[in-house]
Amino acid sequence: MKSLALIVITLFINIKCVYMWSYNPLCLFTECCNNDYIPGDTNKLATLLRERVYGQHLVENAIHAIAAHWNPHYKAPKPLVLSFHGWAGSGKNYVSNFIAESLYKYGTKSKYVHLFVGRIHFPVKEDTHIYQQQLYSWLKGNITKCPKQLFIFDEVDKMPPDILNAIKPMIDYKYEVDGVDYTQSIFIFLSNTGSALVNEHYEDLWKKGEKREELRLSHFEKLIEKGVFNEEGGFHHSDTIRSNLIDHYIPFLPMQREHVEGCIKDQFRSRNVEYPTDAHTQEVMEIIEWGPARSKLFSTTGCKRISSKVALIVAKYYRKQEGKEEL
Ligand SMILES: *[C@@H]1O[C@H](CO)[C@@H](O)[C@H](O)[C@H]1NC(C)=O
Repeated sequence: MKSLALIVITLFINIKCVYMWSYNPLCLFTECCNNDYIPGDTNKLATLLRERVYGQHLVENAIHAIAAHWNPHYKAPKPLVLSFHGWAGSGKNYVSNFIAESLYKYGTKSKYVHLFVGRIHFPVKEDTHIYQQQLYSWLKGNITKCPKQLFIFDEVDKMPPDILNAIKPMIDYKYEVDGVDYTQSIFIFLSNTGSALVNEHYEDLWKKGEKREELRLSHFEKLIEKGVFNEEGGFHHSDTIRSNLIDHYIPFLPMQREHVEGCIKDQFRSRNVEYPTDAHTQEVMEIIEWGPARSKLFSTTGCKRISSKVALIVAKYYRKQEGKEEL
């Protein structure tokens, strides 16, 4: 009886492995470079962005770009390079996390997803050379093992300016570098760079009566390119920009009242409070600072800090109620 069970189990494992088109039975237990662990689910991404990100319809362009890049019937000529620009709290990290979560089964915890943060990973300008070598060998090492990697560089504006030049050969139009195929990977750069220009330009368009939802990438692309190139930080006078290796610049527009309200609702909902009272929503609203000075149209911290404030209110009022009802 026991041996029969064993045979059935072995059979099942084999069938499962064949099905996974990776014959390595270890893949049942550990993350492997295959479709089970890298589903690349852009539909899920679209849903997450639609339901949980407020006022950033331009980000849809990133979904289309990713879907096209990983389309099995298409061989990309280079890795996909996206650059997200916007104020703190406008959702750049939030969206990057959703991208990791939709493309990889283990999301940001996947060994194929890498996050580099400017001030943490590359703090000392004098060490630029070391960082460059490190980065080159990490990227090469990882991509050799699995071509579908996601590299997120946060705080690019706070990185020493030459670091990104190290990865230039990898994101360039070459099918192979040193026998390694880099073309399936995805690079995402996050920064505040250019956001002052984006915000100003958006404010102008808004005052002219243009609808936010109808704005397109083309309204902002040239602007960001200029801002990126001239501001201090990781892109500063970078070869990467000069040779047009960034495929898409995605601006994150500044958050207005209605978007901040959306974030607040979302935060309450994620704590199982479907209908917060107006007074409580208002209480969260009060911590938001508005700018710029002349119009006070935008939340200067986007949706940052909302989460902890909502947590506090929920703990104070709603949990207590729940407790009372139980008594
Ligand atoms: C892959 O990248 C990580 C950094 O995210 C690094 O620590 C690791 O050494 C790299 N692996 C290889 C094989 O280079």
